[in-house]
Amino acid sequence: MKNSKNSRRYFLKTVGAFAGAAYLGLWGIMTGTLQKNKRKKTVTIPMNDNRAVLFREDCIVINTEQPVVLSSYCTHLGCRIKTFEDGKLVCPCHGSMFDLKGNPLKGPAIKPLEKLEYSINKETNVMTINI
Ligand code: FES
Repeated sequence: MKNSKNSRRYFLKTVGAFAGAAYLGLWGIMTGTLQKNKRKKTVTIPMNDNRAVLFREDCIVINTEQPVVLSSYCTHLGCRIKTFEDGKLVCPCHGSMFDLKGNPLKGPAIKPLEKLEYSINKETNVMTINI
C-alpha cells in the first residue's frame, strides 16, 4: 500500500517536472521569437526637424548635436511615452518620468528606457533607426 502511494507520488512529481520544463521551454521560444521579430524593424526619419524631442513610431529621438534614440515603451508596463513636459519624458499610464538620456527620474519605472542604435546618412540627412 505504502509503495503504491510512493510510486504514484513519484509519478506525479515526474510528470509535473516534465510539464513545467516543457512550459518554460515553450515560453522561452515564444519570447525569443517575439524579440527577434521586434528587432527586424527599421524607421527612417528626415533630420530636418528642429524640435528638441521627436516621437516617431516606437522611438523617441532626442535631437541634440549627438542625438539619442530611445524606445518609447515605458520600462514599467510598456505603455508608449508620447509626452515631453518640463524637460522630462512622461509616461501617460502611471506617471513615470525619464530624463533625456532615458534614466528614470520618478517611478514606478525603475529601469532606463532602452537606447536604440541608429545611423545618419550625411548626404541625405536621414536617420535610420533599428527597432
Ligand atoms: S507603464 Fe509607464 S508608468 Fe506604468
